[in-house]
Amino acid sequence: MQKLYEGKAKILYQTDDPEILLTHFKDDATAFNAQKKGQIEGKGSVNCTITAAIYKWLENKGIKTHFIDQIASNQMTVKAVKIIPLEVVVRNIAAGSLCKQTGLEEGWELPYPLVEFYLKNDALGDPLLTQERLEILNVATKEQIEELIKTAKKVNQLLQEFLTACQITLVDFKLEFGLDKAQKILLADEISPDTCRLWDQKENDPESRVLDKDRFRKDLGKVESAYKEVQTRVLKQIASLIS
Ligand code: TMP
Ligand code: ASP
Repeated sequence: MQKLYEGKAKILYQTDDPEILLTHFKDDATAFNAQKKGQIEGKGSVNCTITAAIYKWLENKGIKTHFIDQIASNQMTVKAVKIIPLEVVVRNIAAGSLCKQTGLEEGWELPYPLVEFYLKNDALGDPLLTQERLEILNVATKEQIEELIKTAKKVNQLLQEFLTACQITLVDFKLEFGLDKAQKILLADEISPDTCRLWDQKENDPESRVLDKDRFRKDLGKVESAYKEVQTRVLKQIASLIS
């Protein structure tokens, strides 16, 4: 199969159908703009499975995604889209770069979900954009930006509902969107412990509760088992909704 693009965590392949691409999820892990590199055994399969389950559930709730089908443990088919070069981050609780840049205490509950835009550009280190920088860069129209904000907030509400049932707190997460042939905006990329901060509601200790890539970023250990725990809870919750 023809490789179209290789990113840090995934490879995109062409298929026989120009409208359909294949995403292969890798076990490779990077952090801090790839300054830290490693492997998380089984991550490709776990992230693909979690993303597929969540995207199917979101589709049922009216969110349009690029997801078509999970065809192997670490592979899914997706609709071909042109990725909008923005990382849309939603935060419910202060953590990560928000704390580093503002001095807010980790764990502080924000008064409302904070939606932020970062430019998807590794060479520039994915800088945080202001409203006006966003307008001047012209990577999306005003109407598209409004739609991204509305969809990101809706996804946040839905994910919070879903993950609370898994006894997981959704601290923050990153979304990416793409445009299909008809210029319709679709949720793309992945939703997984790589792209979310997830805290175990059964644990109070600030290190033990971490079920996401911060275990890798901060060398907290037990990375694989944390990712697997998220997969187990997500699949259990999906199964309980079906039965
Ligand atoms: P941050 O606190 O480092 O800005 O991250 C916010 C959220 O975005 C967090 O859930 C992790 C996710 N994220 C990505 O998915 N990819 C990235 O490159 C970065 C920096 C963050
Ligand atoms: N995925 C990003 C990188 O490797 C950053 C991160 O998730 O911390 O550069």
